[in-house]
This record gives sequence, C-alpha cells and structure tokens, in this order.
Amino acid sequence: MGLGSNSSVRVEWVAAISLAAGAAAVGYLAYTRFLSKDKCCKAMVNLHIQKDNPKVVHAFDMEDLGEKAVYCRCWRSKKFPVCDGSHTKHNDETGDNVGPLIIKRKEA
Ligand code: FES
Repeated sequence: MGLGSNSSVRVEWVAAISLAAGAAAVGYLAYTRFLSKDKCCKAMVNLHIQKDNPKVVHAFDMEDLGEKAVYCRCWRSKKFPVCDGSHTKHNDETGDNVGPLIIKRKEA
C-alpha cells in the first residue's frame, strides 16, 4: 500500500464520522422538537393545582350553585376552582386576556 491509500482511507473515515455526527444532530433536533417532554411542559396551563392528580376535575350540583357562581379559567386562583381575581395580575404580567366563567340564574 502506498501513501495515497492511507490518505484515501482517512478521507473516508472523516466523511463517515461527519455523516454520523450530522445524522445524530438531526435526530437530536427531531427528538427535542417532537418527542421531548420539555416541549409539553412549557405549554402547561396548570402550574400548581393538584399536580399529583392525573386530571383535575370538579363537579357541582346545579342546586348548590346559589344565585351566582364564579369559576376560575386562568388556573392561578388560590381558591381554585373558584375565581379569586388572580386573573387580573396574570393578565397584567403576561398580556393575556383570560377571565372567569360566571354562572348565574336568570332574573325572573
Ligand atoms: S382567578 Fe382565574 S379566572 Fe379569576
């Protein structure tokens, strides 16, 4: 084997390593973009309420609602699921526009 043969093998190794590194980079980017849990957590609405439960659910009987009930939809209320006005601070800080769900009886 001559000197040119070693040089040719070295070039092939460099090309193979470059190809493998490129494929790994593309795979990593695809994983972080589509499969990583980090992506899902950045978009979470519920930051603090009952995080140990797989799903936060509240149910109320219509008869128990009284004349008016005001429920939180911003997930920032300290009295969740009842609105405590925390949506105002959230909206001021984030530029969001969320507000409560208000259920009230029709006036007769
Ligand atoms: S505190 Fe969440 S909607 Fe009012």
